[in-house]
Amino acid sequence: MSVHAQVKRITVPDIKAHKGTTPIVALTAYHAHTARILDPYVDLLLVGDTLGMVMYGMDDTLGVTLEMMIAHGKAVVRGTDRALVVVDMPFGSYEESPEIAFRNACQVMKETGCTAVKMEGGARMGPTIRFLSERGIPVVAHIGLTPQSTNVLGGFKTQGRVEDDWAAIENDAQVVAHSGAFAVVLEAMAEPLAAKITAAIDIPTIGIGASPTCDGQILVLEDMLGLSPRTPKFVKEFATLGAAIAGAAEAYAEEVRGRAFPAKEHTYSMKKLVDE
Ligand code: KIV
Repeated sequence: MSVHAQVKRITVPDIKAHKGTTPIVALTAYHAHTARILDPYVDLLLVGDTLGMVMYGMDDTLGVTLEMMIAHGKAVVRGTDRALVVVDMPFGSYEESPEIAFRNACQVMKETGCTAVKMEGGARMGPTIRFLSERGIPVVAHIGLTPQSTNVLGGFKTQGRVEDDWAAIENDAQVVAHSGAFAVVLEAMAEPLAAKITAAIDIPTIGIGASPTCDGQILVLEDMLGLSPRTPKFVKEFATLGAAIAGAAEAYAEEVRGRAFPAKEHTYSMKKLVDE
């Protein structure tokens, strides 16, 4: 008999129940060990296509493939027991038709074991969101700044700065909510617009640079850990791991160059690493 209490994974209805109550805590994760560390503290982990930039050094997310998302999605699901895991649909894998989106999202869910997928786009994605959610695939929508459209938007820019732009973005929010998305990410959005959308729709909004008025918050993990070479202005760094790693590497290099270590000590620490 197992001595470990069974941890119940957070479900889609659990996330929906946060609407207007306690804020949803969400972060991105791309590999098993960090997912394991984050699991007790978050409600939702997103295997974001930002992994193209964060893990692979790409300039944007456009080169990310379904295979990359599946490989990292599997790792994050393996590393978690509790958080609801959402995997991003990469550019080119879902926009063409609801049928193609369904086929690729099925592959993501079957191969990773994730609970839901996320896709960028507002009103234009309504039919696809409906097609998937009516067939058993929970969808998180993503509106405002949609990085896969960076070439059309002309860069990574805050959306809804001028009130004239609000109606189209409010319509995006209404359409994705009515099409069956169970939550919607609002990225880089002016606060009054994010507040208005959050009050107007009955699914939770999860903000990233969209103000505390949202029903929850998400950040790219490496940004908030101080590990990313460039972070958006709105990101608060909760740790400075980039500096800590550089310091550790420097200390290690000094030690290795300065004196010889007994082989035994080195072997012991390697073994410990493997056993844990
Ligand atoms: O890919 C990603 O990490 C995202 C977040 C920025 C929400 O979509």
